[in-house]
Parts: sequence; C-alpha cells; structure tokens
Amino acid sequence: METQQIVLDPKITDIFQQQARPEPSVIAVGLSKVVSPRKGDSVTILSDVDFCAYPGQITAIVGPSGSGKSTLLYCLAGLETFTDGSVSLLGTPIKGMKPTKLTKFRRNHLGFVFQSYNLVASMSVEENIALPFTLRGARFPRKQAESMLDYFGLLKQRKTNVTELSGGEQQRVALARVLLASPDIIFADEPTGALDQENGRKVMGILRDIAQNPEKTVVLVTHSAEVAEKCDRVVEVRDGRISQASAQNEVTV
Ligand SMILES: Nc1ncnc2c1ncn2[C@@H]1O[C@H](COP(=O)(O)OP(=O)(O)OP(=O)(O)O)[C@@H](O)[C@H]1O
Ligand SMILES: [Mg+2]
Repeated sequence: METQQIVLDPKITDIFQQQARPEPSVIAVGLSKVVSPRKGDSVTILSDVDFCAYPGQITAIVGPSGSGKSTLLYCLAGLETFTDGSVSLLGTPIKGMKPTKLTKFRRNHLGFVFQSYNLVASMSVEENIALPFTLRGARFPRKQAESMLDYFGLLKQRKTNVTELSGGEQQRVALARVLLASPDIIFADEPTGALDQENGRKVMGILRDIAQNPEKTVVLVTHSAEVAEKCDRVVEVRDGRISQASAQNEVTV
C-alpha cells in the first residue's frame, strides 16, 4: 500500500505547538499579603497578584528594592503565609495544607536559594550541601557534589566551615545545595547578587541547563538586566503589584 505523506501548513503546526504549551507549574491568583507590624497598623506588601511560571522555563521577577519580590517568592514557595488568594504548585493548592504536609511537599519538590543564603553556620561546605539529602533520608551523591563544587571553584574548600567563606562563596554553596538536590521547582532570590561576572554567568549557565528539562521550573528574583535577559519570561513587581506593562507585554527573550 502506498503511504501518503502529509505536509502540514506551518501555521497549523504553530497552533499545535502553542496548544502543547505545558500547564503552569506555579500559579498564584489574587495573592495579597497584609501585615500589622504594630497594633492598629496595617501594611500591604502584596496586592492582588496573579502570577504563573512554566516548566522548561526560567521566569524572572524584577522590580525596585522594597517592591515585594522576596515576599512574593516566599509566598509562592509556601515559606510565608498570605492574606488572600491562592497558590498552587505542580497542581497542588498549598493554602491550608497542614504544616507537616507542606514541609514534606517542599522537601520533595522545591528548592529555595535565599537572599541571605541560609547556610548552617556550624557546618562545612560539604555538610551544608548534603543537608537536603540527610533530611530526606536519601543517599548523598558525593561524586556529583564534587563536580558541582569544582564547577563553582569550591572543591578545595569543601571541608571548610561556611562562616570562613566570602559572601560570594557562601552564595555559591547555597546554590550548589539546591542544584544538587535537583528539585522540580527552584526558587532563587537574587542568586547572582553577590557574585562576580564570571561566577554569575556560570550560575545562569547551570540554571539554563536545568530549564532545558521540560519538567523543571526556575523562578528567580533579580536586579540584574543581564540576568533578566537570559530568562524566558520577565514579570515586574511595583508597589506589591504586577506592573500593568509587564502583565500585558511579557518579555519573551
Ligand atoms: N513582616 C513584615 N512586616 C512589615 N513589613 C514587611 C514585612 N516583610 C516585608 N515587609 C516590607 O515589605 C516590603 C517588600 O519587602 P521585600 O523584602 O519583599 O522587598 P524586595 O522587593 O525583595 O526588596 P529588595 O530588592 O531590597 O530585596 C518592604 O517595604 C518591607 O519592608
Ligand atoms: Mg528581596
């Protein structure tokens, strides 16, 4: 029997590709956070934020200092509570989840690189990056850890206590710790903030490699135009809201 080859009009394949866009792995709808630092006082940090991030992409959150970027990232990652709205991660709503269940969910699926690194001061570089594995009761991939430390120029310091490292070195340890655990979603708060240009590029290179995987999502906060340029989508926060311009005209690099 003769087979007939069908050649689709590129416009049609384009529609197929658009339809094949994956479901967002991070979705926030109407997210608001109001705090009362003093009795009778209330401060709105986030106001009616709609946000989503897709697997296979790096989404950048940009905006002026104090605009609410870190707070948004913390709320998305289930590390801070919010007043109104909803957040769902990998199809699972996190609001109202029991704390133990949320901790387990975070441990199994999420990685967070803190703006302040959050390393355990009494531990060495190697002990710090082994921590997520220890907590999960999983085997520590020593060989992979060594190549990761080597990539970040930290192999010689692997037995050094993290308090003896510079800010940039500590930031690289914090990144290595999350990257090695290879979570489904990586949240990173200014992951290149304390790094020189070369190390900043290395970090972005590795995050880009991760986002090549269609099942991995990266959401990062940055002040750097160079970093934002290397991301797939850029969302701007201003005064606790997603700026109109960025909502309507998402930057797709
Ligand atoms: N618990 C809190 N109580 C009162 N105000 C808070 C609280 N947490 C954050 N804020 C305020 O909310 C605003 C947003 O803070 P956030 O840390 O999210 O900003 P940011 O955009 O990450 O800034 P930066 O770029 O400097 O890191 C700031 O004005 C901050 O002082
Ligand atoms: Mg911040």
